[in-house]
Amino acid sequence: MIANPLGKFLLLASITLVIGLNACVHDPYVLPVAQQTGDTGICFQKDILPIFQSNCAKSGCHDASSHEEGYTLDSYANIVKKGIVPGNPAASKIYHSITIATGEDFMPQGAPPLSAASIELIRRWISGGAIDSGACDGSPCDTNNYTYSGAIEPIMQSYCVGCHYSASVPGGSLADYLHVMNSAVNGNLIGDIKHLSGFNPMPQGGNKLSDCEIRQIEKWVEAGAPDN
Ligand code: HEC
Repeated sequence: MIANPLGKFLLLASITLVIGLNACVHDPYVLPVAQQTGDTGICFQKDILPIFQSNCAKSGCHDASSHEEGYTLDSYANIVKKGIVPGNPAASKIYHSITIATGEDFMPQGAPPLSAASIELIRRWISGGAIDSGACDGSPCDTNNYTYSGAIEPIMQSYCVGCHYSASVPGGSLADYLHVMNSAVNGNLIGDIKHLSGFNPMPQGGNKLSDCEIRQIEKWVEAGAPDN
């Protein structure tokens, strides 16, 4: 007799199901740390550290004196001490806390969530082994580079958009050209980043921008804040 085609199908289907279910209980394969070469598109010092410094290493939260829950998130050595599993964002408590929508583990506590772009950078950085290198070219800052797309926008993304991601947040948006240009024209941008008296020092709670970064922004504003 010919084998019953329906029986064959059911047998195959159940084998597939069992294999499929087994696959789900295994953790994703993670490269040993020594073989993780990092995400070549990411520079820890330029792309990742400012996100932690401006969103987490604040007084009362995760700066050196507060270190809530034992997390001090102000430098590479401190950040990788706890809550980061190199190569595995899903198992990293820090990544978990920035990707859950609510609850007491949600971070940054009492503030809006990190932008999707910042979360994605952190995911890529952890996936690549959470290393302190990556695409850090020899000349991290050049005062002769002051175009909007080449200098200003990346500075805003690294240091400011974590808070200024929408027009409805305090201080407004710095996430697109028009909003950045407006704050340049009304004088707040320069007053704030230079910590001039009568202005709100920015980035709030974070380190002052480097002299070179401030100079880049000043030169761009002096040039008429063009969309270049
Ligand atoms: C940790 C959150 C946070 C970060 C990071 C941050 N800001 Fe702000 N910013 C604020 C808040 C909150 C305000 C509203 C004013 C206030 O309450 O101090 C504000 C206000 C502003 C304003 C509006 C004018 C004013 O002074 O009120 C400008 C311009 C500004 N920030 C620029 C920046 C720039 C440029 C950066 C990055 C270099 C930055 N901010 C980073 C939180 C932040």
